[in-house]
Parts: sequence; C-alpha cells; structure tokens
Amino acid sequence: MKLRAWVLAAGLFLTAVWACTPSEQNAKDQAVSAAEAGDMYQASELAALMRAMASGHEAQKAKFAAGEWDADVLRNWREIHANMQSAQATKPQEIGEVFREKSAEYLVRMDEVIRLVEAKAPQSEKRDAYNALIETCVGCHQEHCQGPIPRIEKMKLPGDVPAGNGG
Ligand code: HEC
Repeated sequence: MKLRAWVLAAGLFLTAVWACTPSEQNAKDQAVSAAEAGDMYQASELAALMRAMASGHEAQKAKFAAGEWDADVLRNWREIHANMQSAQATKPQEIGEVFREKSAEYLVRMDEVIRLVEAKAPQSEKRDAYNALIETCVGCHQEHCQGPIPRIEKMKLPGDVPAGNGG
C-alpha cells in the first residue's frame, strides 16, 4: 500500500516535470494524497496530442536520418497535428497570437518536408527542412513551456559530419 502510493507520487512528479505544470501547481499537487492526485491528473487534449507528436518524431528519427522517408506517415501527421490549432489546452488563456503563428508555421514547414519527400529531393534538403520543422516546436516552446525543449532538440536529424576532423 505504502509502496504503491510512493510509485504514484514519483510518477506524478515525473509527469509534472515533462509537462508544463507551473511549480506552484506542483506544490499543490504534492500536498494532496498521491492516490487522489493520480486520479486528478488528466492530460489536456493538447498535451495528449503533443505527447503523440513527440513519440512519433522520436520513433521515425532513425529512419529519416538514414534517408528512409515515408510520405504517407508525414501526410498522416500533417492531418493529425493540425488539430493542435483547435485542441483544448491545460491553460486556454495562454493560447494566443504566438501559438497561432507558430502552429501555422509548423504546418507550413510540414508541407515543405512533404513536398521535398514527394519530389525525391536530396537528403540534405529534406533534413534541413525537417530540422526547421522541429525548430518550430522549439520556438513555440520557448514561449509556452520550456520543460520539453531538451527532449525536442534531440529530435533533430544530425548534419553531415565530415569524418575524422573532430567537428
Ligand atoms: C504552436 C505551439 C507549439 C508547437 C509548434 C509545439 N508545441 Fe508542444 N506544447 C505546446 C503547448 C502550449 C503545450 C502545453 C499543452 C497543455 O498542457 O495543454 C505543449 C506541450 C508539449 C509537451 C508536454 C505534453 C505533456 O505531457 O504535458 C511535449 C512533450 C511537447 N509539447 C512536444 C512537442 C513537439 C515534439 C513538438 C513538435 C513536433 C511540439 N511540441 C510543437 C505548444 C507547442
């Protein structure tokens, strides 16, 4: 019983770190019993979509880095990720001009990646366009929630590193 509460508390804490919960809210969450809090924490529509976006990009990274692009996957993302423009956020009052601008920019950059993949453009062009797409995630997060930025940065595809010169 005690152990279970602990595990829940630890899980809640980790969730709070990944998510964009302000520290004030963390303190409040930690004050309620762990079991209660476990039931209380429910991801917003937007947070759930963001998690799916993040794991999608992470799952495809190795393939894209190897030049194995899949236009169907990208078109499917384009459709699903567009829901960020209407999904309910944890703090709807914070969804404003920057969010609207950055979410539109994200979709435009996604279109550009799809266009390059369909046109069988060189890998370096697709990679740069894809990294620009991921940079849009970072840009919006600088405004909205900085916690996931280190994780998002890792989604970028590595550049061409000339062998043997140490960078
Ligand atoms: C237009 C702005 C915007 C863009 C673009 C954006 N995000 Fe987010 N992201 C947010 C906001 C706002 C939240 C907080 C959502 C909430 O709590 O309702 C969030 C939350 C998250 C979270 C935390 C979810 C949780 O568990 O609470 C992750 C992870 C995340 N985003 C990853 C990404 C990734 C990866 C991308 C790009 C592929 C991306 N985001 C693009 C605004 C953005």
